[in-house]
Amino acid sequence: MSSVTYGRGGLPSKGAACYLKYGMTTSSVSRRSVLLSSAAAAATAAQTTAPVRVAFVGTGHRTWAHIPVVKRIPGFQIVALADPTPDFRDKAATLVGSQPALYSDYRKMLAERKDIDAVVVVTPDSLHAEVVVAALGLGLHVLCEKPMATSIEDANRMIAAQKKAGKILQIGHQLRFRGVTSKMAELVRGGQIGEVKFVTAYLHRGDWNPASWKAPDPKTGAPTVWRFLRQYMGTSLLEDGVHQLDILQWVIHSPIKRVSAVGGNAVFKNRETIDHAAVTVEYASGTLLHFGFCLLAGGVRKEETLIGGTAGHLSTENGKITLRNHATGKTQTFDTSVRAAAPTGAVNPAAVTEIGAEEAQFHAFLNSVRTGAPPLVDAEAGKDAILIPIMAQKSIDERRPVLRSEFPA
Ligand SMILES: NC(=O)c1ccc[n+]([C@@H]2O[C@H](COP(=O)([O-])OP(=O)(O)OC[C@H]3O[C@@H](n4cnc5c(N)ncnc54)[C@H](O)[C@@H]3O)[C@@H](O)[C@H]2O)c1
Repeated sequence: MSSVTYGRGGLPSKGAACYLKYGMTTSSVSRRSVLLSSAAAAATAAQTTAPVRVAFVGTGHRTWAHIPVVKRIPGFQIVALADPTPDFRDKAATLVGSQPALYSDYRKMLAERKDIDAVVVVTPDSLHAEVVVAALGLGLHVLCEKPMATSIEDANRMIAAQKKAGKILQIGHQLRFRGVTSKMAELVRGGQIGEVKFVTAYLHRGDWNPASWKAPDPKTGAPTVWRFLRQYMGTSLLEDGVHQLDILQWVIHSPIKRVSAVGGNAVFKNRETIDHAAVTVEYASGTLLHFGFCLLAGGVRKEETLIGGTAGHLSTENGKITLRNHATGKTQTFDTSVRAAAPTGAVNPAAVTEIGAEEAQFHAFLNSVRTGAPPLVDAEAGKDAILIPIMAQKSIDERRPVLRSEFPA
């Protein structure tokens, strides 16, 4: 039997072109790829027959979207759900349909159930770390929703737990699996615009879902949408915008030096978390990033990224990429779509012909669990993505630029 090469993201490939599809350079591929021996590949093939048994911790709106996706993938079986809110948990149980075990406390579930292979963590943001560390400590694989954590200290604890356990920890930045993202990363990291010098990106969207889980306000005790409370969400920039910032950290690929931000509550004043921000980031490479964020575009979600380099300029808007070369003046457009992101080498190609980014992320997780291939969005990438939001919120709070060196490594 011939050996099989797996890339970051757990996507088997026939060659470097496949990796580039997922935005990796060939050198990073050779660094991070895992060459399975014939014996290991045979063992992997044998494992593919047994479903990976999954438990969800946190069964609110996001889990209601995850469940139908996970059910469509034959390699998964949902065996248990843990959530303290009965109606949210019951709705998830109905969506699963096959009578999963139900728990109000995830710790009891993890202690009692011996039939769980992997945990999907979908709690409010600041609770991710404790669940992830507990699950990894029991030798379980984890897919943790974005943002990975609300503090760098928590992210570091999660990274340490992953290293100790040697299990998969994938972070739920599913937009990395979109066609537009992988094409943009391929073009930028492949040198098509030369060195990246100046990036402008923005996200305009509406307010947070008012039907989100209500947590007790620490000051008044009143049940409050958790996304209005800094104790649970840290900052609005962590809850959204973090998708784009994750992708930009991936393509800019340089350490952050300094962040300056202004922002606050222009419209939604009666809450702790901000409704707009203007953020400037200076990278060690000299690259500058300007990121604009607001919650004031009710009913709309509009995001755009423009990247200026020494050799050209690239912009993305609604799945369309435009690339212009400075010297030749030649302009190319790439019309990507979610379907273009289908990982054709995934475990069950037949099941993913009509794939979305969400489904691609679960296929990649399944393949990582089965083969040990490092995830495309691993714990280090999850940590990179939260740095700008955390630094920007401190800059807003203290009305001054903040240096990366002021924060834990
Ligand atoms: N990747 C994406 O595009 C995306 C989209 C939406 C949400 N999310 C993420 O998903 C997570 C959940 O968001 P949501 O929209 O489902 O929120 P939600 O308010 O709808 O649900 C949160 C759930 O967490 C439960 N919960 C609270 N404390 C818990 C605990 N100690 N143990 C277990 N469960 C607990 C609540 O009871 C509730 O059911 C967040 O981290 C959010 O950032 C990601």
